[in-house]
Amino acid sequence: MSSLQELITSRRTTFQFQDRAVSDEVIERALEAARWAPNHKMTQPWRFVIPGPEMIGKLKAHFVRRLATKMAARGYSETEIAERMRVPQPDIPAQILVYSVRNADPYRAHEDYAATCCAIQNLMLAAWADGVASGWKSFDQPENYELFGLDPEQTQIVGLIQLGYPLQERQSKRRPLEEFVERTR
Ligand SMILES: Cc1cc2nc3c(=O)[nH]c(=O)nc-3n(C[C@H](O)[C@H](O)[C@H](O)COP(=O)(O)O)c2cc1C
Repeated sequence: MSSLQELITSRRTTFQFQDRAVSDEVIERALEAARWAPNHKMTQPWRFVIPGPEMIGKLKAHFVRRLATKMAARGYSETEIAERMRVPQPDIPAQILVYSVRNADPYRAHEDYAATCCAIQNLMLAAWADGVASGWKSFDQPENYELFGLDPEQTQIVGLIQLGYPLQERQSKRRPLEEFVERTR
C-alpha cells in the first residue's frame, strides 16, 4: 500500500485528544496542504479562522450546550444532563473554522463549497501525516455565523475542524467497493 493510501485509510474522526499542544508548524503545514486543493476558476474560496483564547472559551461553551441538547434529544433526564454538565470538558488542542466565500452564482457557489471540502480533506490528511488526528464538525447554524461575525449571505461555514494527538486508536469501516462502482459500456 502506498503511504498516501495508508494515510487516507487510517485517518479517523477523533473526539478525544491527548493533553498535548499541536505546534504552529503542524498547523501551518496542514493549511499549506489545504490551499493546494483543486478549485474551479481558481476561486480559492476557502478561508481558515484560527480562534484566539476568547473565541476558544465561547466554542467550549457552545459544545457544552450542544452536548446538553443532544442528550435531551436522546431522552436523558434533566438530572442526568446536569450531572454530565458538571464533568469539565477537556480542552481541544487546536481548532480551525473553515468557510467558503459565497459566490453570487449558485452553480459556482456549489463548486466552491466542494472545493472547500477538498481543502478540508487535504488539511486533515496533512495533519494526520504529522500524527495529528481531526474531527470535522458541522458548524453551519445561524448562531455560529454570529459567533464568528460572519455574514451567511457572503460566506458559508463548511466545518469546524478540531485537531489533536489522538487518545485512542479508532476504527471505522466502509461498505465493499463494488457497491459504489458501476462500469458503463
Ligand atoms: C461534511 C461533514 C460533516 C461532519 N459533521 C460532523 C459533526 O457535526 N459531528 C461529528 O461528530 N462528525 C461529523 N463528521 C464526521 C463524520 O461523522 C465521520 O467522517 C464519519 O463518521 C466517518 O468516520 P471517519 O472520518 O473516521 O472515517 C462530518 C463529516 C463530514 C464530511
